[in-house]
Amino acid sequence: MTGEEPPPAVTVRPATATDVDALVAMLVEVAGEGRWIGTEAPVDVERRRRRMAADVDAEDAVVLVAEAGGVPVGQLGLHLAPYGVADLGMLVAAGWRGRGVGTALLEEAVRRAREAGAHKIALQVWPHNTAAIALYERFGFQREGYLGRHYRRRSGELWDAVVMGLPLD
Ligand SMILES: CC(C)(COP(=O)(O)OP(=O)(O)OC[C@H]1O[C@@H](n2cnc3c(N)ncnc32)[C@H](O)[C@@H]1OP(=O)(O)O)[C@@H](O)C(=O)NCCC(=O)NCCS
Repeated sequence: MTGEEPPPAVTVRPATATDVDALVAMLVEVAGEGRWIGTEAPVDVERRRRRMAADVDAEDAVVLVAEAGGVPVGQLGLHLAPYGVADLGMLVAAGWRGRGVGTALLEEAVRRAREAGAHKIALQVWPHNTAAIALYERFGFQREGYLGRHYRRRSGELWDAVVMGLPLD
């Protein structure tokens, strides 16, 4: 016996208003890594809280939270456009990556996007984000386009983005 506890199981559920602060804190952490998501530090935390709280209540958005042992370790947002496309953004806390959290979130997101009547999930990802691209491709997302020198970063650099889509129909 090593005395080590097995890692707690990961569960995925819709976020509620009480999750907003923890989800924004997680977003701030990942933005601080500076490499993976569109949001950059310093994050306007109050504005983010308002937006997240609105999304949690919105008819045309889905916010999912992944928990391990009651602690939020990942999040995923879908914005449902009236023309049937669900735009996806997601992140997993650094210490929890590579342990199936992203997979659990995406499985639930695909189910909910279908349920909402979306015919497609769409997203954009930095070309250097090989972990995210591998995850999306494992779910059947296709590379649909490439935006060259598209996003101005706070450093002044212009970053490319890969456009990906998952048909649901
Ligand atoms: C991308 C991200 C969401 C993946 O979540 P995760 O919980 O680490 O993913 P999982 O453990 O469920 O892994 C699922 C699959 O993703 C791919 N993957 C995950 N991490 C990987 C890595 N470091 N390198 C290559 N492939 C990787 C693999 O195909 C993996 O399947 P496998 O375990 O059978 O090899 C997570 O790394 C993350 O939050 N990164 C920072 C934020 C971010 O990049 N968000 C997406 C912006 S577009």
